[in-house]
Amino acid sequence: MFPEPGVPDWRLSVAPMMDWTDRHCRYFHRLITKRTRLYTEMVTTGALRHGDQPRHLDYNPEEHPLALQLGGSEPDELAFCTQLARRWGYDEVNLNCGCPSERVQRGAFGACLMNEPALVADCVKAMVDVADGLPVTVKHRIGIDKEEGYGFVRDFVGTVAAAGCRVFIVHARNAWLKGLSPKENREIPPLRYEVVYQLKRDFPQLTIVLNGGVQDNDAIAHHLQHVDGVMLGREAYHNPWLMAGWDRRFYGENSPAPDRAVVESAMVAHMSQLAGRHGIPWSHVARHMLGLRHGQAGARKWRQIWSDHRLKTQPPHEVSAAALSALDPAAR
Ligand SMILES: Cc1cc2nc3c(=O)[nH]c(=O)nc-3n(C[C@H](O)[C@H](O)[C@H](O)COP(=O)(O)O)c2cc1C
Repeated sequence: MFPEPGVPDWRLSVAPMMDWTDRHCRYFHRLITKRTRLYTEMVTTGALRHGDQPRHLDYNPEEHPLALQLGGSEPDELAFCTQLARRWGYDEVNLNCGCPSERVQRGAFGACLMNEPALVADCVKAMVDVADGLPVTVKHRIGIDKEEGYGFVRDFVGTVAAAGCRVFIVHARNAWLKGLSPKENREIPPLRYEVVYQLKRDFPQLTIVLNGGVQDNDAIAHHLQHVDGVMLGREAYHNPWLMAGWDRRFYGENSPAPDRAVVESAMVAHMSQLAGRHGIPWSHVARHMLGLRHGQAGARKWRQIWSDHRLKTQPPHEVSAAALSALDPAAR
């Protein structure tokens, strides 16, 4: 059974990633997969309250289905931002309860919120009250520091679900709040997928999405036997062509397979348009597609040309021509 087009589903998604999943990156990913759910970078409630809202919230219409991820811990502020998400036409608003960075901890949100399920429930309730049907979801870890008991995450999910959250995206490792960098916190605490599977067994009515360390399609298929969805972060970013088969394999679409050269030329057209209309340098866009040729003969040289800042003043179609000439002819 495949999900119906247009009906919200969480079968596959690309994770929210600061500095990575900006609108240019999402535009690129959408050329490769039409059905996969995409997430923004985390935006803090303070940035939306006091900063440049269009800069944080604008996106290309092609990006749907698209979720806005929020960082914050004050119910009123989160409600305000949920209203913005509605007004901007997002398909979901997601609350970050998984980020362990020191900066985020000082703001008292992110992963440390897992220690305060009642506060998260208040936040979710305030968001759901103004969401007008827009799904309010939570992304979290399976534990904090050395707390490895299943009861901790089970009670967190139970409390937050009672406040109206129906979708939980679970990064299957603990967050260690002291002594590890955010990067180490994505690598060192062990992955425990069994905990996520157990959540699905205990809360069959909820949508449970597994995240963390998933690197290939067979692993996705395996996890989908236990949970409702799988979210990929780093692998989707570094090896985006992995997503090229997803619409057919995981959504039952019979659209033709995308083609790397067609995707690259669509990106070149997009870069030219952004440069012409908004003065955005092509390098701001191209940096997200450096994994497009991953695994092809000549990919290293292709990638070097697309990341060569000395070519900054050249128009993107010329850079593309140079990059393509570095590829093995069979791969162009
Ligand atoms: C560069 C980078 C930035 C990230 N930024 C966020 C973020 O803004 N919000 C969030 O919830 N998780 C963030 N994450 C964590 C990812 O969403 C994801 O949970 C994590 O990378 C594990 O998934 P993976 O093993 O598939 O990469 C970030 C990860 C990376 C690599």
